[in-house]
Amino acid sequence: MKLVVIGCGYVGLVTGGCLAAARHEVVATDNDASKIATLQAGRIPIYEPHLDEVVAAARRAGRLRFTTDAGDAIRSGDVIFICVGTPPRATGEADLSAIDNVARLIAAEARSPKLVVEKSTVPAQTGQNLKRALNVYGHSSGLHFDVASNPEFLREGTAVGDFFHPDRIVVGVEGVEADRQLREVYEPIVEGRFECVLHPNGCPQSAKPEFLVTTIPSAELIKHASNSFLALKISYANVISDLCERLGGNVEEVTRAMGLDPRIGPQFLKAGLGFGGFCLPKDIQAFIHLAEQVGVDFSLLKEAERINRQRIERLMEKVRNHLWVVKDKQIALLGLAFKPFTDDIRLAPALEVIRRLQAEGAKLRATDPQAIERARAIFPDVIYNADPYEIARGADALLVLTEWPQFKQLDWSRIHREMARPLVLDTRNMLDPLTMKLQGFEYDSFGRPEANASVTAESSR
Ligand SMILES: NC(=O)c1ccc[n+]([C@@H]2O[C@H](COP(=O)([O-])OP(=O)(O)OC[C@H]3O[C@@H](n4cnc5c(N)ncnc54)[C@H](O)[C@@H]3O)[C@@H](O)[C@H]2O)c1
Repeated sequence: MKLVVIGCGYVGLVTGGCLAAARHEVVATDNDASKIATLQAGRIPIYEPHLDEVVAAARRAGRLRFTTDAGDAIRSGDVIFICVGTPPRATGEADLSAIDNVARLIAAEARSPKLVVEKSTVPAQTGQNLKRALNVYGHSSGLHFDVASNPEFLREGTAVGDFFHPDRIVVGVEGVEADRQLREVYEPIVEGRFECVLHPNGCPQSAKPEFLVTTIPSAELIKHASNSFLALKISYANVISDLCERLGGNVEEVTRAMGLDPRIGPQFLKAGLGFGGFCLPKDIQAFIHLAEQVGVDFSLLKEAERINRQRIERLMEKVRNHLWVVKDKQIALLGLAFKPFTDDIRLAPALEVIRRLQAEGAKLRATDPQAIERARAIFPDVIYNADPYEIARGADALLVLTEWPQFKQLDWSRIHREMARPLVLDTRNMLDPLTMKLQGFEYDSFGRPEANASVTAESSR
């Protein structure tokens, strides 16, 4: 089947690369010519584990090509996946201008009927507006455009595995033909017939993913409802963490026990600095805005967002409590990306931490395995070094902001020797409090008062 991907960001590249590995012919385009030039030169403009292998293999097999000629791309395929960004406006509402631009482009360039699929995350009822735009702007051609919603659930850092081995594939359609086409697109994924770079010797046996066919508004709602629920879980864990600090519990003990209940589940109950990234914060805002527009009270979600924003202030309180005066203190930041295994810093909590610390006059140095260059473009006045020991040298405090596994493996006794004051504020609860204390650190994290941490460690021996 001939497929088109419009927008070569995280979602577009993973979708294009993985569907080409599933033996479809894919043409991918982007309005950023420099991005296409990079891709044509065989480089990947983002860091996402295994994406380079998937894209290179698909190009070698002649099943994936990149072009700046969007018209040519549109004319070459039957099914067009829209993967452009839907960033938040100042009001929180999703900015759908890129979707609208692409709709008008498709209407103008198509010479045969197309199934146009929303893969970008969009508010419910976008499908309706997309269909109207395609037909209004394509009226002179007399072509029929079908629209479908196929929300993407991949997680940055594990995106390739998530696409190849999803829990579910959701398609919102209006008719049988769109249903048929999307079944054909995903059949190799559902049946496990694709070239999996993660498991070259064969994928482990697991249940087939559910292929769920819904209405378009349901599919659109499923994505926002899922992400918002995950955000709720994180904010809930963070309030429990605050309670633990006041009442003497250990948030990890509490959330672990909660998560063993299958009705709750262990995921997204990690207390810390809160959620960030290009999905959860903007999707929750867009969902709140959508609910307001249609007169539904979603204060529950507003509260989750407020709690999340407060996490930065909770950290700042800890910084002030420990350092007393923040001005002129040398503070080392371990981690910039919004989570490990990505170079994505969009809406990363680390950015707000930098802003707040700079506003209080701290002197900052930072490291991250992948995100230094992206952070440098926003904060040129921070000192960056790829070597964590260098950023620790002479520091008055070290803040763990992203739980990259390599940070856990550092020689912490060496970090201790390098620091002017061995104070570690671990905002991701990555390190063991007792071990840190035994190594002589002043150590603080979220929801794990020291007394409890010691009891836990003793009792687990
Ligand atoms: N990043 C994720 O983890 C993730 C997961 C699921 C869903 N989503 C959703 O998918 C969408 C894309 O996210 P992303 O992270 O890939 O964004 P991104 O910013 O990495 O990529 C978007 C791409 O679209 C291109 N683009 C913008 N306007 C265009 C136009 N008019 N014509 C052609 N190309 C255009 C941009 O140049 C960019 O390369 C968003 O709606 C996002 O919410 C993202």
